Amino acid sequence: MAINYQEKKGQVYTLKIAIFFGGCSSEYSVSLESAYAVIRNLNQEKHEAVPVGISDNGEWFYFTGNIEKIKQDGWLNEADCIPAALSPNRGEHRLLLFREESIEALQIDAAFPVMHGKYGEDGTLQGLIELAGIPLVGCGVLASALCMDKDRAHRLVSLTGIAVPQALVTQSSHDITESLEFSRQIGYPLFVKPVKAGSSYGVTKVSQEAQLQPAIELALKYDNQAIIEEAIEGCEVGCAVLGNRELILGEVDEIVLSGGFFDYTEKYTLKTSSIYVPACIGAEACRRIKEAAKTIYSALGCRGFARVDMFLTPEENIVFNEVNTIPGFTEHSRYPGMMKAAGISFPEILDRLIELALEPIDCL
Ligand SMILES: Nc1ncnc2c1ncn2[C@@H]1O[C@H](COP(=O)(O)OP(=O)(O)O)[C@@H](O)[C@H]1O
Ligand SMILES: [Mg+2]
Repeated sequence: MAINYQEKKGQVYTLKIAIFFGGCSSEYSVSLESAYAVIRNLNQEKHEAVPVGISDNGEWFYFTGNIEKIKQDGWLNEADCIPAALSPNRGEHRLLLFREESIEALQIDAAFPVMHGKYGEDGTLQGLIELAGIPLVGCGVLASALCMDKDRAHRLVSLTGIAVPQALVTQSSHDITESLEFSRQIGYPLFVKPVKAGSSYGVTKVSQEAQLQPAIELALKYDNQAIIEEAIEGCEVGCAVLGNRELILGEVDEIVLSGGFFDYTEKYTLKTSSIYVPACIGAEACRRIKEAAKTIYSALGCRGFARVDMFLTPEENIVFNEVNTIPGFTEHSRYPGMMKAAGISFPEILDRLIELALEPIDCL
């Protein structure tokens, strides 16, 4: 859809994009890096960033300082921050700034939560933005919440015929009889993870029974439910998806691990693992992965963008892992990397995302 850039006093009107960053999630610092890259790559001829920082205990501020401070986690200071809130009044589309003597209102044309995990990627912030009637970049409430829940996402995706790992959800690290029985049945090694988390927080590869209980305990530190999953053999592949109804796909990428799993350290340092984009797999497997990514994206009601992660087994079967509705968005992150390999630059992704946010929601 073409954007109608309004002329204001002879000048081209730039769209004001509220970029939300930080938040009370274990992925707070990842969000700072993603938001920094998003702000830096916004096409300034068309868009103006309105940075909204959320502290790790949930306070909102309009951030007026140098964006380098976002990257360095030095943004939260009195000189650069004005307490802020979104007006819930659907007609207004305003960010309210609580200055000492007065309340100022900033007009917002679209909102882009660049936040990962709880209270940012899980549908809660999306709900607030949708309630306020502000065009939202990325997935809406339902898809965000579903994709954050690894168990419910698996159940829905399995209805499309795509394979998912065998799994059991537990709420308790004390009464583990059922967990032990299930684990014996699927065999070790297996994975224990929080049902709703990200960046591999609380994930353990469990290779023997004695490690099961501590692994459940750890997962339950991050969420009220833990999921026990059979370990899927093979490689991890991802596919970047962009679009509302017509979908554009990035090149498939592949994570090559030297052992263990893709834990927090590996994700952000790639010390012993590598990411290949395009993946070193056959054209036919790539085509099937892209098809599966589209099916999964649609089954979960995604909109705007998402990264669909899957496994490719040695027999070349595709097994669904998870959808990240706000994947890492730094210049070195997988989503921009997959799109770059498909010929779409970072600023172009952002342009398209904002256009997609402005499309009427009923076009899905
Ligand atoms: N069932 C599984 N089989 C094999 N590896 C897994 C499985 N589940 C998780 N992993 C490994 O753990 C990593 C993190 O798990 P994931 O479900 O993607 O959680 P997160 O949302 O934290 O990224 C994956 O990238 C993969 O390396
Ligand atoms: Mg993952």
